Amino acid sequence: MELLEADSLAKSFTVKEGPVFRKSPKTVIALRDVSFKVKKGEVFGLLGPNGAGKTTTIKILCTLIAPTSGDAFVNGHSVTRAPQKARQDLGVMLTGDRTLYWKLTGRENLEYFSALYHMEKELAKKRIEQVLKLVGLEDRQNTLVENYSTGMRIRLSFGKAILHEAPVILLDEPTMSLDPQSALLIREVIQDLRRSGHAIVLTTHYMEEADQLSDRVAIIDQGKIIALAPPAALKESVMKSETIDIEARNIDPQVVEKLRGIDTITEVTSFVEDASSMKGMIKIHATDAKDAIPELLGVLVKGGVEISNVKVAEPTLEDVFISLTGRALRD
Ligand SMILES: Nc1ncnc2c1ncn2[C@@H]1O[C@H](COP(=O)(O)OP(=O)(O)O)[C@@H](O)[C@H]1O
Ligand SMILES: [Mg+2]
Repeated sequence: MELLEADSLAKSFTVKEGPVFRKSPKTVIALRDVSFKVKKGEVFGLLGPNGAGKTTTIKILCTLIAPTSGDAFVNGHSVTRAPQKARQDLGVMLTGDRTLYWKLTGRENLEYFSALYHMEKELAKKRIEQVLKLVGLEDRQNTLVENYSTGMRIRLSFGKAILHEAPVILLDEPTMSLDPQSALLIREVIQDLRRSGHAIVLTTHYMEEADQLSDRVAIIDQGKIIALAPPAALKESVMKSETIDIEARNIDPQVVEKLRGIDTITEVTSFVEDASSMKGMIKIHATDAKDAIPELLGVLVKGGVEISNVKVAEPTLEDVFISLTGRALRD
């Protein structure tokens, strides 16, 4: 049996917009037909842009919200029919965790949650020591959470999720807005959790993180899983197309569009980072980069684009997303 199973999950929200008397409620479809399984010792990455449905999926899996249809099973327990049992086998970390107590110290928070999880006292004491060390809060365990930095709070929230060593661990964007050192620490602990046999779901919009940590990745977009495979296999699927990254200034969208006319080019996306200089990056997928480069550079130069760097790169999960959706993962 798989430790976690999502079976055709769908979720719609009804939202009232503007003055109620003018507009009828609108239905937002957050998830449509999401299915996957996660086994013991597996990290399952859910990768997608903002609004894709990642948090909604996690909230359904941890019984915080009910699906509109479909069901999920945690260690065999249905989240809709046996939510209490499902919850017992779960450790959860949500983004912007509101359940930490700011007037308690880091250690006191963990003590409180260990009681909530019905952990045996002596065992809890040992485990709390261990977790404080793991998340690097040993020295600050007696500081009130209200005096913690954001990074420390996120690490404590992560510590709370792994405290009772539940078989299934759900992490919603665990490293978002975290300093690089703390992010590294959390990634290392996730590797340890995998080795000790937990089933882990990790949502992220960082493709490097999904790539590094996940045994399998589901790419989610607009509430639907559009690809599901180990990261290497996903990248392989776009291997036949090489990627050319061009750094430039004065990126004129109309000139960039002209690149689509070149035979060997299959996809073109550009990102402008600075509106005044139109400085940014053009990402091109081509079936044969060597063949495409002279012609595409000609088009760009003639169109006044000032190129500062050209790189033929190995595809990343971002490229997989682009080739599937024609859009970039980042905003
Ligand atoms: N409580 C809610 N009410 C209305 N719409 C919601 C609610 N929660 C999420 N949504 C919508 O559902 C979609 C998916 O959101 P979410 O799961 O938070 O995405 P992600 O975590 O991938 O950024 C978005 O369009 C979002 O606006
Ligand atoms: Mg989210």
